[in-house]
Amino acid sequence: MAGLFGLFATGCTVPPNTAPVSSKDAFIDSVLSTLTIEDKAGEMTQLTLDMVCVGKPGKVEEPHRLDPDKLEHVLVDLKVGSILNCAGHAYPPEQWHEFISGIQSKAAEKPSGIPVLYGIDAIHGTTYTTGGVLGPQQLGLAATWDTTLVRKFAENAAQEVLASGIPWNFSPVLDVARDARWPRFWETFGEAPKLVSDMGVSMVKGYQEGPSPIAACLKHYVGYSRPLSGKDRTPAWIPERQLREIFLPPFAAAVKAGAATVMVNSGETNGIPVHADRHILTDILRDELGFKGLVVSDWEDIRYLFKRHMVATDYKDAIEMAIHAGIDMSMVPTDTLFPVLLAELVHEGRIAESRIDESVRRILGVKYDRSLFETGGMPPALVDYPDKVRLEGTAARAALESITLLKNEGQHAIYPDQPILPIGGSGRILVTGPTANSLNALNGGWTGTWQGRNPKYNTPGRPTAVESIRAVFGEDRIALAELDMEFGQADIDAIVRSLSPRTTQCAVVFLGEMPYTEFMGNVETIELFQNQQDLVRAIHATGVPIIGVYVGGRPRTHHHIEPLMDAFIMAYLPGDYGARAIADVLSGDFNPSGRLPFTWPRHPSSHLTHDCKHTELNGDGFNPQYTFGSGLSYSPVQTTELKILTGETANMGDTITVEVTLENKGIRSTTETVILYSQDRVASITPSVDELAAYKQVVVPGGATTTVSLDVSTRELGLIGRDNAYRIEPGTFGLRVKDQTAEFELIGPQ
Ligand code: BGC
Repeated sequence: MAGLFGLFATGCTVPPNTAPVSSKDAFIDSVLSTLTIEDKAGEMTQLTLDMVCVGKPGKVEEPHRLDPDKLEHVLVDLKVGSILNCAGHAYPPEQWHEFISGIQSKAAEKPSGIPVLYGIDAIHGTTYTTGGVLGPQQLGLAATWDTTLVRKFAENAAQEVLASGIPWNFSPVLDVARDARWPRFWETFGEAPKLVSDMGVSMVKGYQEGPSPIAACLKHYVGYSRPLSGKDRTPAWIPERQLREIFLPPFAAAVKAGAATVMVNSGETNGIPVHADRHILTDILRDELGFKGLVVSDWEDIRYLFKRHMVATDYKDAIEMAIHAGIDMSMVPTDTLFPVLLAELVHEGRIAESRIDESVRRILGVKYDRSLFETGGMPPALVDYPDKVRLEGTAARAALESITLLKNEGQHAIYPDQPILPIGGSGRILVTGPTANSLNALNGGWTGTWQGRNPKYNTPGRPTAVESIRAVFGEDRIALAELDMEFGQADIDAIVRSLSPRTTQCAVVFLGEMPYTEFMGNVETIELFQNQQDLVRAIHATGVPIIGVYVGGRPRTHHHIEPLMDAFIMAYLPGDYGARAIADVLSGDFNPSGRLPFTWPRHPSSHLTHDCKHTELNGDGFNPQYTFGSGLSYSPVQTTELKILTGETANMGDTITVEVTLENKGIRSTTETVILYSQDRVASITPSVDELAAYKQVVVPGGATTTVSLDVSTRELGLIGRDNAYRIEPGTFGLRVKDQTAEFELIGPQ
């Protein structure tokens, strides 16, 4: 049989997306009615690309190529409905096209003919398509506080992902970063549920509603980012109140925005692996948040229910548990038993066929919405691959807007009348530190490879930080003292021997981390590496002023050496355009505007957040290195006269309008992010010191004074009460922008 959808591949179909829902439902029902239990179990199975390539999973033969026998077995015999990932490293678009076409042609030969839904982690641009546009990782995107830009960036990424032949992206990460040790901190939009929600919604819309839409995947639902140990996939204990207050809102917002798919948290919360937690996966996600899309497991996580978590006796027991909890598709991804055992469970009556029908309907729904029945899942023509030049500007802009100037206090040794930044004059500049000359360091994990460490898959021609610094300041001014992560005292001695304030205007020291993700990034401490601290100390001792540039995705503590640096810049993981962004900020060609989307701890075990509790302020309790929202520019803006335009009282449901006056004390135009916090003075649950209530960006020309207004809905000033339900309590509320404060009274029934 040629496959049910041969005719769709030739162009005859109901137009997707524009069709009334009922015709989509009718179409899916008609497909479903033709499927056997084995077809359905296959649809619910996702394997990694390695499983259809020549070689073994994890050891695919180079050059990577499809293995016809494996393809036949996986797609025709087992009827597998989804494939993910690369088989170890990125490919050029041509090779992606070969893979996707090969896979879809074979899928068309299985009795159902249903195309494969291909998924990938394109988390900061086209991470696995070589030569693609790579922008900042999510933490840097959050530092822009620019949701319009982030939406555009996601839209562009979708264009390249889809042009590579892939309709499904495992992005965005909506975990809220509350622990700096966690090795996926940099994959998040930071610590504030509101900022994470806004950024998440923008990214989902960018992926799903742009000119080349792909399906987004919200991950990792829910409670993944706060394991007690700080280590990946270790137990989290999250009371339901905290779950609902901090970790759930971004998922709720993105579900409401229409996200097509959700990926499950690999960890356990409160002693229950989330893959087996019906309360989280069905009661909350489906019944409460109203999610109608597809839920996919994370990597091997159904199997881990009996291999790691020890809550199931065997694989079959684990599958039964996970499907009953609410999972639709298993990211298996390297065994062929899953569909066989799932079908057996249905035949034995342990799982009702109606239950798997629900899942298959959702899977087919995503395939339908992505037009797979129309195109047969075939990649679009290569000649239509988007012109990179059209997409680069947004990634470069995002990198620029992310760079966050956290300190600028020192003075030039040679030009004492000038601030240390921007670097003026014409003296020599020493560039050193382990992240100074590495494109991999700028990009982080999920770049070319999973861990992002292999330079072989870097985008050809993109510069490292020192290369851009040379381009901006001129070769002659720059001396590079190259270091790797393991440098020692002898390397430091060699650097300081050649250094004196008479000959060197300043040292730009690149600190930070090399790429990692998941458990490979687990750490025993978040203190900055000793050798990097020694380097700063030694350079400081020479009298040469230091500009520290931190390239990394989690805030390593460095309070011993922070006073020794005259300026300090957080660059996050700014991607392929990050080098130029850093150089442009150093030179002053760009006036920095990034704002820290998390609280940078001063000590390794004192990571609090902006929304900590009043008891945490006792003594030196809250004493971060840099507060949430920190960020300077080359034109300081003074904020005064906070006024509540809507008056001193508000009724439940009202929107409050707040105004502040901004005065640019410098001569340069600057982008100011006005951040408004709310404070519930007294509440039935201990209130936070501050909650992020609203924010707005405004350009203030040099020397100008302007007013900005921000709106806050009283509906957003609630808390999760003793009954774990959302409530808004009347009483006094404070509002704060920097040191400007005001109060109002919220009146009305609860
Ligand atoms: C990660 C996910 C990722 C998946 C597929 C897992 O190990 O936790 O974030 O989407 O692999 O690559």
